Amino acid sequence: MSTDEIIDLTSRHVMNTYARQPVAFVRGKGCRLWDAEGNEYLDFLAGIAVCGVGHAHDGVAKAVADQAKRLLHTSNLYHIPPQSLLARELCRISFADKVFFCNSGMEANEAAIKLARKYSLKRFGEGRTEIITAEHSFHGRSLGTLAATAKYHRQDHFAPLAPGFIHVPWDDVAALASAISDQTCAVLLEPVQGEGGVNVPAPDYLRQVRALCDQRNLLLILDEVQTGMGRTGKWFAYEHFGIAPDIMTLAKALGSGVPIGACLATDEVAAAFEPGDHATTFGGNYLASVAGLATIEAMREEELLANAAERGRQLSEGVLALQASYEAVSNARGLGLLRAFDVTGDRAPAVQEACFKRRLIVIALGTYGIRLAPPLVVTKADCDEALAIIDDSLQAVLS
Ligand SMILES: Cc1ncc(COP(=O)(O)O)c(C=O)c1O
Repeated sequence: MSTDEIIDLTSRHVMNTYARQPVAFVRGKGCRLWDAEGNEYLDFLAGIAVCGVGHAHDGVAKAVADQAKRLLHTSNLYHIPPQSLLARELCRISFADKVFFCNSGMEANEAAIKLARKYSLKRFGEGRTEIITAEHSFHGRSLGTLAATAKYHRQDHFAPLAPGFIHVPWDDVAALASAISDQTCAVLLEPVQGEGGVNVPAPDYLRQVRALCDQRNLLLILDEVQTGMGRTGKWFAYEHFGIAPDIMTLAKALGSGVPIGACLATDEVAAAFEPGDHATTFGGNYLASVAGLATIEAMREEELLANAAERGRQLSEGVLALQASYEAVSNARGLGLLRAFDVTGDRAPAVQEACFKRRLIVIALGTYGIRLAPPLVVTKADCDEALAIIDDSLQAVLS
């Protein structure tokens, strides 16, 4: 099928919920994608921070293909060997003791919200159900996680949302402290906000939030759906801030593109869940779990944490240099391979478009910024190439 035929089919038969670029990719390898006409693109988005080990990774492809020939699904009525192994690996690389598996980031956050409320009910009795989240956060699009998400622009179209969420200014410990009441059971934050602008907090913010949660007997839930699995140069972004949460959520890069989400917790907190409290048919099935195991193995073998940190430094320096050359570019920021910069005059979509014409995939943050989130396998030469294309695109748009 040609690109035009694919676009025509999509517009006739797929619900119109995405503003799609006029391209259809049919093949990928590492940081490269090819469209239906055979054009090659450099991917600095990685399926929105999903394809950490790169496209068509040999180890992940083999694990998924081999598993598909043996057994794909039985349900969680039975034990699932690769799920048990993946849970052990996730606990080995994180603060957690136990894992609940699901299929997406939104579902992982739903599980975290339910777990926090159930833990609070068991430990402190009724009445503590409120969860504090931050402005500019993004936690998903179910009626619960949309309510947890502060000020998402279409929330009012879907009212009534789930009650029980309070939003406070981001990176402001005093505001958070003053929002805590007898009804509060947990604080839910992204350690670095992704969709809300790639906002890195002050170095001591999360430590202060952790201390506040301890003082007030609140659970700290960290949403690492976007920042987890090495994106920031460590397995999890919380490691940069010298703290650990009580509950953490993952999805995106965990399965390298095979849908999987996870809610991780300490033994003490996880014990609040009993059989029947939470479930999902596909959660942690054979296919998703082998993809997760192969992803972790590839990350270890290819030392992708170190690469993410090193290439992150390169991109940071490169974007700072662009900021020095263009008055319209500001606010270079990020951690590891989750980075962004702002472009004045609502010109970010034009910059995204100019990059796309030059076959570099980046994504605009609203109209004000550009986000970069390449696969963690990105090379020095890939980063040099991407920075040169961004430079050229900025020149075209800003001159
Ligand atoms: C921090 C964060 N949490 C949750 C989600 C929702 O994940 P999903 O789209 O898999 O439901 C996202 C998606 O972008 C995210 O960035």
